[in-house]
Amino acid sequence: SMVRTQVGALTQELKEKEVLIRGRAHTIRPVGKNMAFLVVRKKGFTVQCLAATQSMGVSRQMVKFVAGLNRESIVDVIGVVSVPGNPIKGTTQQAGEQLPRVNQDTRLNFRVIDIRTPANQGIFRIQSQVGNIFRQFLLSEDFVEIHTPKLIAGSSEGGSAVFKLDYKGQPACLAQSPQLHKQMSICGDFDRVFEIGAVYRAEDSYTHRHLCEFTGLDVEMEIEKHYSEVMDIVDRLFVTMFDSLNERCEMELEAVARQYPFEPLKYKPNTLRLTFEEGVQMLKDAGVEVDPLGDLNTEAERKLGQLVLEKYGTEFYILHRYPLAVRPFYTMPCYDDSLYSNSFDVFIRGEEIISGAQRIHVPAFLAERAQACGIDVNTISTYIDSFRYGAPPHGGFGVGLERVVMLFCGLGNIRKTSLFPRDPQRIAP
Ligand code: 4AD
Repeated sequence: SMVRTQVGALTQELKEKEVLIRGRAHTIRPVGKNMAFLVVRKKGFTVQCLAATQSMGVSRQMVKFVAGLNRESIVDVIGVVSVPGNPIKGTTQQAGEQLPRVNQDTRLNFRVIDIRTPANQGIFRIQSQVGNIFRQFLLSEDFVEIHTPKLIAGSSEGGSAVFKLDYKGQPACLAQSPQLHKQMSICGDFDRVFEIGAVYRAEDSYTHRHLCEFTGLDVEMEIEKHYSEVMDIVDRLFVTMFDSLNERCEMELEAVARQYPFEPLKYKPNTLRLTFEEGVQMLKDAGVEVDPLGDLNTEAERKLGQLVLEKYGTEFYILHRYPLAVRPFYTMPCYDDSLYSNSFDVFIRGEEIISGAQRIHVPAFLAERAQACGIDVNTISTYIDSFRYGAPPHGGFGVGLERVVMLFCGLGNIRKTSLFPRDPQRIAP
C-alpha cells in the first residue's frame, strides 16, 4: 500500500515501499527515449527519481512527459524507494549549489522564485523564529500583546518621514510606530505591553538599511525606579534570542552562510552598556571628531562598533544617555542634566537595531516638549490628554525585525530580510 510522505522524510525504513511525494522539478535529465532522471526538491531536501521503460515498465509516453517537464513545476511522484549504494543523490540536504550572480533588482522583481533558494528559505525561517522568541520571552515576563491602529491622525515620531493620506475627508497618517498608542495602553493600566506590527516611514533616501514599511517589535513597560529596568529587558531578551537562534536555527544559519559567508555574532551573557559620553570619548581617543551633543552618523556608529569589539570583545552593546536634542519629543530628559536624556540605542555589528527611552508622563511638560520640537499639538491632543488621568513612569523600545535578521546574519542589505520589500523606489511585487 502506497504511503504519502515528504522528500525530507525518505529513510532506509521505506526501502522497497511504494510512496507518493510532492515537490518541485529541480532538474530534469532525459537519457535517450527510454529513460529520464528527475530530481524533486522540497523544503531544502532533494531526491532523485528515475522513469525507465525497460527496467521499470514505465510507458514511453510517461518518460516523454517527465523529460518535457519545466524546471520548478510542482509534481506528484509515485515510486518505489531504493537506497543507492553510494548515497550522494539520496535524501541528503540540498548541497550549496553555485548560484549564478543575479542583480538584486532582478531577484526582487522575481521574488517568488528568488525566495526558493536555500539561503532565502533560511533567512525567513530565522525571521519567523525572531518573532517567536520575542513573543515567548515577553509573555513569560508578564507582558500583554496588543494591536494598535496604523491609521492615525498625526505623526507618531515627528519629522517628515510620514505617509499622509485622506481619511474620509480628514488628513491622516500611516503610523510611523505604535509609540503613542502603546503608551496610551500603559495609561489604560496594562503595565507591560508589546506589539509586532507594520511600521511606515516615508524615507527619502535609498540606503542599505531603510525600508518604507518594516515590521516593528515594540515594547512598553512601567518603570519602578530607573530606566535601566528597560535596558535589563533588552539585555535578557536579546541574549535569550541569540542563544535560541543559534540553537534552533543551525541548519538555516548554515544555508545562509553558504551563500553569504559570515562570522557568528560575538555577544556576552551580560550586555555591555556604555554612556553616550563614553562612546564619544572612545571615538575622540581614536581620532574621530564628533559633536558631543549631536547624533552619531552611520560612519561614527560603525567605527564605535569596531572600537567596542576591540576593547570589550562584543558586537552587541547598548549606548545610553543620548543628548536630548537628537531624540523624539516624548523622551524624558535626565533628571540631573537636561542636555541629556534617559534614552538608549542598541547596536549589532556597529549598526542600530533598537532605540528606546523613558517617556515623559507629565502632560503639561509633554505638550511643551512637543511644541518645542515643532509638532502641532492639536494632532496629538488625545495622546497628551491620556496622561491627565494619572500615568506611571514608563519606558520602552522599538526594534526593527528586518534589521535584527540582517545584522545577526551579517547581511549587507535590508532588502534581503524583507519578504516583499518596500523602499523609496519599490512598491511591487
Ligand atoms: O529608532 P526608531 O525610529 O524608534 C521608534 O520608532 C521609537 N518609537 C522606539 C521607541 O520605543 N522609543 O525605530 C526603532 C527601530 C530602529 O532601531 C530600527 O531598527 C528600525 O526600528 N527602523 C527601521 N527599519 C527599517 N527601515 C526603516 N526605515 C527603519 N527606521 C527604523
